[in-house]
Amino acid sequence: MTWHEETVTPARLPEVGTPDFKTHAHVRYAELRARAPIHRVRMPDGSLGWLVVGYELARTALAHPLLSKDPGPFEEELRASGRHILLAGSGFGGNMLMADPPQHTRLRRLVSGAFTTGAVDALAPRIEELAHQHVDAFARAGEIDLVAAFTGPLPMAVICELLGVPAERRDDLQTWTRAAMANPSDRQRAALVALNTYLRSLLEQKRRHPQDDLLSRLIAVRDQADGQLSDTELLGTAVILVAAGHETTVNLLGNALVALLDHPEQARELRLCPERIPGAVEEFLRYDAPVETTPTRFATERFTLGGAVVEAGDTVTVALTSAGRDAPVGAGRDPNRLDVLRRPARHVSFGNGIHYCIGAPLARLEAAIALRVLLTRLPEMAWARPAEGVTWLPAGITRGPVRLPVTFTPEKGSDAA
Ligand code: HEM
Repeated sequence: MTWHEETVTPARLPEVGTPDFKTHAHVRYAELRARAPIHRVRMPDGSLGWLVVGYELARTALAHPLLSKDPGPFEEELRASGRHILLAGSGFGGNMLMADPPQHTRLRRLVSGAFTTGAVDALAPRIEELAHQHVDAFARAGEIDLVAAFTGPLPMAVICELLGVPAERRDDLQTWTRAAMANPSDRQRAALVALNTYLRSLLEQKRRHPQDDLLSRLIAVRDQADGQLSDTELLGTAVILVAAGHETTVNLLGNALVALLDHPEQARELRLCPERIPGAVEEFLRYDAPVETTPTRFATERFTLGGAVVEAGDTVTVALTSAGRDAPVGAGRDPNRLDVLRRPARHVSFGNGIHYCIGAPLARLEAAIALRVLLTRLPEMAWARPAEGVTWLPAGITRGPVRLPVTFTPEKGSDAA
């Protein structure tokens, strides 16, 4: 029996995103990788698709010219299987992540200037200030859930300041984004409607009262009426920047902290040499990629990928969390071992090719600053209830901890119990 026959047998079809798969993700991915770099699987939305689990094949698939990001031509199938949220105007659609050139090139160019390393570096002092403000709020408590108090709200504050989303709506936005990234359900669809409705009204307000923020600048481009950006695309861009710019970074920070809490000796190393934190961020991205599986790609024609025959219209998803554990990390150096000093920490956790993450410089900067602030201000940080183990978010597409209960030595001048 070839690996192909074995994995397409329906009774044995691996199911991605189930509670069992989420809990034992690295073991399950290792089992799949041992058999083949690509498998026929049941996706969290119930559909069948191809899942790429090997590092080299992941690089190839992410940049493959026969794999389209545009769901438009597959509208009928998507509607029939309840996956119409991918279509323009239905939730997540109408943005660069769901587009092919030339639409992709045009949409990406409109915002790329805001996310270059130079533009993002200018945000460093404000990110540092925000990180300290969040720690100030609990530094004297001695025990806290870092997801609720730090890794959740900080990236939301950063992206909302950049886009110009008022502070009082950030909690709502966070609730909707998290629900929207969850596995398909009525709750997910309702969250997407709420997110779209709110952002549409925010864009209207900003059209009337422009401010110095990215959404106001995009509206100005839209209103120049030179055909660069339609209303659907404007909304789609706002939705993708909020969604992709937030939950991903929350989980990068969350996964980095899980890794550091599990390896206190490596946390000590970084406290002693904070200049190594940016390198360590690459290792955290590799070790536990926060985007577990990429959004769907559609085969535009029949072709062979890693030995599998992909038919026109088949969907292909890349398991970045698996690829990180398959990445070439050097002879004799186990990819399943965390090594914050590892060079190079190769990964595809920000993708590859034309859809390579536009927010990567921001995510890297934010993670490096946030981790430095935490490691400095909470030197004795440890799991509060280590025996419990980590509960991972149930969503198929994201990987991150639900909670991070930690204890630490309260800061001096404590008036807390
Ligand atoms: C740790 C944090 C992040 C991770 C792991 C991450 C991961 C990714 C990945 C894997 C892709 C490519 C998906 C694919 O090819 O199917 C992507 C694309 C994208 N990301 Fe991120 N991302 C992060 C943070 C951000 C931030 C902070 C922003 C923005 C503000 C952002 C905005 C985007 C956008 C707009 C795209 C689409 C780019 C395109 O299609 O050309 N991301 N991201």
